[in-house]
Amino acid sequence: MCGIVGYIGKQKASAIILEGLKRLEYRGYDSAGVSTQHEGRFELAKKIGRVDGLIKGTPALKLPGTTGIGHTRWATHGGVTDANAHPHISSDQKFALIHNGVIENYSSIKKFLLTKGYTFQSETDTEVLCNLIAYHYQKEPVSAEASRFLEAVRKTLRHVEGTYGIAVMCADCPAEIVAARKGSPLILGVGDGELMLASDVSALISRTQNVVYLKDGEIVHMTGRNFTITTLEAEDVSPVIDKVTWSVADAELGSHAHFMEKEIFEQPVALENTMRGRFSEDGSTAQFGGLNISPVDFRQIDRINFLACGSAWHACLVAEQLIERFARVPVEVDYASEFRYRNIPLSRNTLFFVISQSGETIDTLAAMREAKRKGYKVLALCNVVGSTIAREADGGVYQHVGPEIGVASTKAFTSQLLIGAMLALYIGRMRDMSFSGGVAYVNALKGAPDLVRETLKLAPQLKDIAQRYAKYHDMLFLGRLALFPIALEGALKLKEISYIHAEGYPAAEMKHGPIALISEQCPSVFFVPSGEMFNKVVSSMQEIKARKGKIIAIVTAGCELPPDLADDVVRIPECHEAVQPIVATVPVQLLSYYIAVALGRDVDKPRNLAKSVTVE
Ligand code: F6R
Repeated sequence: MCGIVGYIGKQKASAIILEGLKRLEYRGYDSAGVSTQHEGRFELAKKIGRVDGLIKGTPALKLPGTTGIGHTRWATHGGVTDANAHPHISSDQKFALIHNGVIENYSSIKKFLLTKGYTFQSETDTEVLCNLIAYHYQKEPVSAEASRFLEAVRKTLRHVEGTYGIAVMCADCPAEIVAARKGSPLILGVGDGELMLASDVSALISRTQNVVYLKDGEIVHMTGRNFTITTLEAEDVSPVIDKVTWSVADAELGSHAHFMEKEIFEQPVALENTMRGRFSEDGSTAQFGGLNISPVDFRQIDRINFLACGSAWHACLVAEQLIERFARVPVEVDYASEFRYRNIPLSRNTLFFVISQSGETIDTLAAMREAKRKGYKVLALCNVVGSTIAREADGGVYQHVGPEIGVASTKAFTSQLLIGAMLALYIGRMRDMSFSGGVAYVNALKGAPDLVRETLKLAPQLKDIAQRYAKYHDMLFLGRLALFPIALEGALKLKEISYIHAEGYPAAEMKHGPIALISEQCPSVFFVPSGEMFNKVVSSMQEIKARKGKIIAIVTAGCELPPDLADDVVRIPECHEAVQPIVATVPVQLLSYYIAVALGRDVDKPRNLAKSVTVE
């Protein structure tokens, strides 16, 4: 949430920062702003709305100076107004600051600063932080050894409670930025004669692949082309420079209308990348390089507890079904946000898995820390390399699907489903799954990318269906067993990008309440797989049809539905149980996407949402 960019170099800072902000806009898009340093003062342009609006409606692009900071905001404290947009400037004009996170004790600090004569232009906690730095700066002795600027920031951060990723400029210190993090991501980019700062690597990769992932409690002091990293306690930190593997093209639209469309169509390759090198030589099981837990220890585990939020939570529900079915290990799935407050009894041999595309979701991170505090091993399944969750986990699996920029998760979700299926195989083969069962399972997983390719050919049909269903205000998504979480995912996709109200239910549960919603005005999307559930799901469809509900049926090819039962039939390829959730996801992604497009929605930046939720 919120995008942060900083630059120190020889180029015009505003242009580089604005380009970075455009790449970060998916992290927040209520308002945007940029400030540069020029001849001992700050130049500032900020405005509600998108980065393009900032460029067109203000002199942002023309701001002079080769040092600057910029921000895209997702409002927490204070409404969406120009005054609340970042950067904020201290009332003595000494400091400019951008901030991602929430300062919980801002109100008492503000009261104190008001008594000291500081004034405020906005309702934000960020402006309070900025003025507190100014307060400490004017109290800080001038010394030859220590940077007064750095020390003022350090002192300030010792007084604040809450979360932050900040970047600060000081009018007295040309070509310097001090940045720090606690609970919000921050990455330093080390370029050719220049330094950059961002909350997400996608803002840096057009200028450098060399990055330092800052850790919580660290402060970076950027001075020209040099930098030092210290902790809040003023201890020195030796920086580790990592190489980013994502390319600029990965973070660009190419010929697609939206990132969501691009990412839906990237899924076959994304799945190939997720599974590459992860099957054993004998082709009977999965293998993971970074679990950091021996097969012997794995066999001791008598319960697995998954924690996640949103789509990632749906992926956990599918993993639960597959692990219980194929590995016979009991699985619990908790919302990460609930887990940390529930204090559930846990057995000694429980293994925790957290799933998070971004690796920065604050609820998932906090839940993971809670499980670790209780002495449990926590493995993480993340897409973003170097993210906080990936770093703090005891081990884990990277998804390798490249940057996911559309706010609605698509390729990351199906890749999470794939890894869940691979875990079921891996654990299953340590227990009761036979060699031949394992080989059949591996072959099925290897076939998943091609099945998804085939399913993507349904796009024109789903576009046509979408045109006809975009007029409805409510929709139900119904599925059973491992397709129930896909019903939840279909409903979430539809509501988040089209703003049509949608609910997901186990198909048989529908008659215990949701059926009251059914009318000609409330269509249902049914997942109708072949196998033991086919007749049961068909019965549920009959109940809907009897009440004049319209039906879109997503049916396994080869299954014949009773005539006239469904209004639209979408045929997906027949596949192994472990692959079915992945394949069945594709039509609901396409349906939601085309409905949102038909309604003229801003698909990649739906209202009120932002990618990577880093506030509680
Ligand atoms: C929905 C969506 C969200 C995320 C959720 C968790 O399309 O993208 O529900 O799945 O915010 O995000 P991560 O996986 O980054 O922890």
